[in-house]
Amino acid sequence: MDEIRSANRRLWDEWSDDFQALWNANTADGEHPPAPNPFADDAPGGSQPDLLPTVEGLDVVELGCGGGQGSVGAAIDGADTVVGVDFSAAQLEHARHLRNHYGVDARFVRGDVTALPLPDDSFDAAFSGWVFQMVPNLDACLSEAHRVLRPDGVLVFSVPHPVYECFDPETGQFRRSYHADPRRTITIDDAYESDLVVFDRAVGELHDAAEAAGFDVRRVLEPEGDDTGSDDTAADDTGSDDEGDDGPPVSDRQDLTALVPQTLRFWATVR
Ligand SMILES: C[S@@+](CC[C@H](N)C(=O)[O-])C[C@H]1O[C@@H](n2cnc3c(N)ncnc32)[C@H](O)[C@@H]1O
Repeated sequence: MDEIRSANRRLWDEWSDDFQALWNANTADGEHPPAPNPFADDAPGGSQPDLLPTVEGLDVVELGCGGGQGSVGAAIDGADTVVGVDFSAAQLEHARHLRNHYGVDARFVRGDVTALPLPDDSFDAAFSGWVFQMVPNLDACLSEAHRVLRPDGVLVFSVPHPVYECFDPETGQFRRSYHADPRRTITIDDAYESDLVVFDRAVGELHDAAEAAGFDVRRVLEPEGDDTGSDDTAADDTGSDDEGDDGPPVSDRQDLTALVPQTLRFWATVR
């Protein structure tokens, strides 16, 4: 497990600049870079006002914050304390840059989502976008999220939809069984020292793990078509697969999103 963690962290340090360039690919000179609030109406699957009417005045943590888009978005929309945690120093540098660009209050700290460097019961809402699928120990991610949330706190996490991940983006055909071993290795770029290891866990497994960690799962969202929202935009372009292709076949993937949901998103509350 430590080997996977080290390799994934190295990969993220190597990939960070190019990954953040994907986030900003559609940002014209002089425009503000994207910083979508992950709890807002335009997030994948929409907001859930009965569970979280607003982030205004709330203490929010982002687990695996990457370039900080979600954290900064929550801060812009009025969250009180915002903390983003990520194990990649390169990603955190981008996050701090984005925060400074917007001039909002958000703290970015280096840490692992399976051992958060944060006190118990300190947040009202936690968000994690396209991170848990890279972590071998899902239970530890969820129990740490539970630990840092207050009673009645809300956890929103999204992962690439495991059915979508069964497709070969080039042929549009199933390349693996939904029931196969969830572990998969992705070559992002042959020039990088590390590959990325991910776990395409089944919907039921994710649901049951969240319940076992002490959450009530309140929504399981599988947004249709291109309703994936901008907080997952860059994360979609996750490079080539085991076969060692060269780059992200993004346009083919757009066709797939008409057939299967790209994102799987859970809303859960602390039991
Ligand atoms: C696909 S990015 C998602 C970040 C952000 N939500 C986004 O959409 O750009 C995954 C992030 O998770 C971080 N990450 C992966 N495993 C982690 C772990 N075990 N602990 C902390 N961060 C981790 C990576 O460094 C990377 O920044």
